Amino acid sequence: MDIRSYKPKGFINNKHMLTLKTYSSQEIFEIIHTAVMLKQKQRAGKKHAYLKDKTLAMIFSKSSTRTRVSFEQGIKQLGGSALVLQQGDIQLGRGETVHDTAMVLNRYGIDGIMIRTYKQSDVEELAKYADCPVINGLTDDYHPCQVLADLMTVYEHYGKLEGLKMAYFGDGNNMANSLMIGGAKVGMQVVICSPEGYQPDPEIVKEAAQFGDVKVTADVDEAIRDCDVIYTDVFFSMGQEKSPEKVNALMPYQVNAELMAKAAKNAVFLHCLPAHRGEEVTADVIDGAQSIVFEEAENRLHAQKAVLYLLMKKR
Ligand code: CP
Ligand code: NVA
Repeated sequence: MDIRSYKPKGFINNKHMLTLKTYSSQEIFEIIHTAVMLKQKQRAGKKHAYLKDKTLAMIFSKSSTRTRVSFEQGIKQLGGSALVLQQGDIQLGRGETVHDTAMVLNRYGIDGIMIRTYKQSDVEELAKYADCPVINGLTDDYHPCQVLADLMTVYEHYGKLEGLKMAYFGDGNNMANSLMIGGAKVGMQVVICSPEGYQPDPEIVKEAAQFGDVKVTADVDEAIRDCDVIYTDVFFSMGQEKSPEKVNALMPYQVNAELMAKAAKNAVFLHCLPAHRGEEVTADVIDGAQSIVFEEAENRLHAQKAVLYLLMKKR
């Protein structure tokens, strides 16, 4: 199905947002349409307190600017409130189990939990025991909320998703994984372009390929040909040790003016941010006319509000 012919229904079947694997393309379209509607309301200054008096707990075991601020501001704009729980301030950071943390939060009238952490299995464990919806705010393996904002941004720009070619250059990390899954589900052609040794986990590639058109290649020219959306992310994700070997391996995959010139004429540049100018992307590209990274960053707010609304309003 094409996003252009999808009619919003006001609900999704998933209880949690752990990865996009369990989401149908219709559910992804539902989130994007809801996000566009919420963006219009916010821009027009129209009240949209759909989650009045609901509480979102946010657990952070890694740093964050966009996820932290957009979720906190998002729940506030929806009429609810946020509890920010940094790992260092809560007992989870001193070895209390995810199970016990979930069981305790269940007793305090929490309506939703967002968690940013290392292991995907911890997020799954939390979802297993939490009574309320759990939202993955990034793990070592996935970053679904970012990809929802990315797809929304591409949809707003092109007015469609199906048939567009998106190529990701660089480290085969959590972003590459979630882009493969999300992009494939909405009918995009997704190419991950990384050198040997830094390509995404073949198991995840295999899984993503079941949902649509996914390819992994080390060939930059093949990846950039006729490309509509060019994406990159940092060489070193949070929790990864820096190494000169990895910099050397990834440098030929840098998104620069020479690479952009080989893409489709009106191609756009995306980056989840934070960016390292001079590493994965040059300043002239990220600060140039084809870059829509700050629209993309803004859309984190709207896409997340859509997720919060669709998951938490039922409770
Ligand atoms: N893109 C993203 O998730 O940014 P933060 O790490 O600042 O939340
Ligand atoms: N791959 C990056 C994404 C940051 C939003 C990381 O995990 O650090």
